[in-house]
Amino acid sequence: MSQEILRTKVKDLLAKAPGEDVLAKGWVRTKRGNKEIAFIALNDGSTINNIQIVVDKTATDAELLAKVTTGACIAVRGKLVESIGSGQAVEIQASEIEVLGECDPVRYPLQKKDTTFEYLRTVAHMRPRTNTFGAVLRLRSQMAFAIHEYFHSKGFVYLHTPLITAADAEGAGNMFQVTTLDLLNIPKDKKGGVDFSKDFFGKRTSLTVSGQLEGELGATALGEIYTFGPTFRAENSNTPRHLAEFWMIEPEMAFYDIKDNMALAEDFIKSLVRYALENCHDDLKFLNDRYDNELLDRLQSVVNTEFKILTYTEGIEILEKAVADGHKFEYPVSWGVDLQSEHERYLVEQHFGRPVILTDYPKDIKAFYMKQNEDGKTVRAMDVLFPKIGEIIGGSEREADYGKLDARIDELGMSRRTLEWYLDTRRFGSCPHSGFGLGFERLLLFITGMQNIRDVIPFPRTPKNAEF
Ligand code: 4AD
Ligand code: MG
Repeated sequence: MSQEILRTKVKDLLAKAPGEDVLAKGWVRTKRGNKEIAFIALNDGSTINNIQIVVDKTATDAELLAKVTTGACIAVRGKLVESIGSGQAVEIQASEIEVLGECDPVRYPLQKKDTTFEYLRTVAHMRPRTNTFGAVLRLRSQMAFAIHEYFHSKGFVYLHTPLITAADAEGAGNMFQVTTLDLLNIPKDKKGGVDFSKDFFGKRTSLTVSGQLEGELGATALGEIYTFGPTFRAENSNTPRHLAEFWMIEPEMAFYDIKDNMALAEDFIKSLVRYALENCHDDLKFLNDRYDNELLDRLQSVVNTEFKILTYTEGIEILEKAVADGHKFEYPVSWGVDLQSEHERYLVEQHFGRPVILTDYPKDIKAFYMKQNEDGKTVRAMDVLFPKIGEIIGGSEREADYGKLDARIDELGMSRRTLEWYLDTRRFGSCPHSGFGLGFERLLLFITGMQNIRDVIPFPRTPKNAEF
């Protein structure tokens, strides 16, 4: 095929006025037609929309056209003309077709019956070529950009925190160990334990569960930072809301108290939803029309409503009253329990009808670094709870007082040895500060309306599943 015309992406072709000679490349979605004419729907991933290719069969090699099957990759040259058919303004009147990659229609698994989300997770090459995953993956990319833009516009510094670490930031012990020791011949210390001094880093290391602790070092020097990277949790939670490898955004701000923290979280998430509505309309409309016709309304309503702020204790009272009035939860509710997503969703969806920020949780169900309240029982935590999702953000004001933090670490029996570097922020020029973590895939669940967190990440990692 002659190369003097440059390829134009389908998204740009669809926005062009008719008249030009163009070159399009992409994958065939469908081919239909009659004896004289074939209509090919071509998609190249630049948009959810296809460009229609009109082929004059009488002037085209039949053998070549037979190779233009669903899934095949082709290049098409022709004139962009006004389309008489409905559904598109322009189409390509093909003058030349080249098959770049054939696709055996018998072996290609993209049959209507094969397209459950579960099935698609097992066919790595095909999943991103479907309309649904194309839309989800474009949205994912757009949201990542929107996040960087948001913080950049506010002067936050993007801080790269390590993926391999010796500290358990959340103190929950759900860490994937990183080692180069020979598992069949593990070196032992004098007490018969594993001799980690022989390991690659000379100590026990894991994949990070959060960049927060390192983020705090950034914030107490640069003022306002954010991290955005992969996060790993070896919790054996096979739920539609948990991944073993997910992405988290963690802003951390010097001189912010919990109120400033909540205000930022609310503004941040609303800005992201607004960005999606303003910049990703075609993909959102596709998902709305195909799966969830309340999606666009739900997104719009979050942008327009003020989040409801209340304490954990007040939240528990509401839930206990619901139980007393006959509402059935799977898990019991009383002061001190960690809320399940059914509880969170009850508050958001049934009781308040809008996103909720719960504050001042019992210290025993929250991490060691949270600022302790005067009551001795609660900490200055804040979780943002969302419709359909439950917890989407977890954060807090941080304990800035060395003595209190030190005492809490002791109380929890945590290893101080791996945290000295962190405690130094409280020893030397400590400052009030706050931060939070937004689960990127939880955000995407909300924005796309998808039901399962495995379907908003290109290559999901969950217990017993690390394909591709
Ligand atoms: O509430 P989490 O555990 O908070 C932290 O990690 C803090 N260090 C954040 C901070 O203050 N800088 O996690 C934060 C968010 C959750 O609200 C949730 O959205 C998401 O991360 N998350 C997960 N997403 C997918 N799969 C998992 N297994 C997740 N665990 C947490
Ligand atoms: Mg949390």
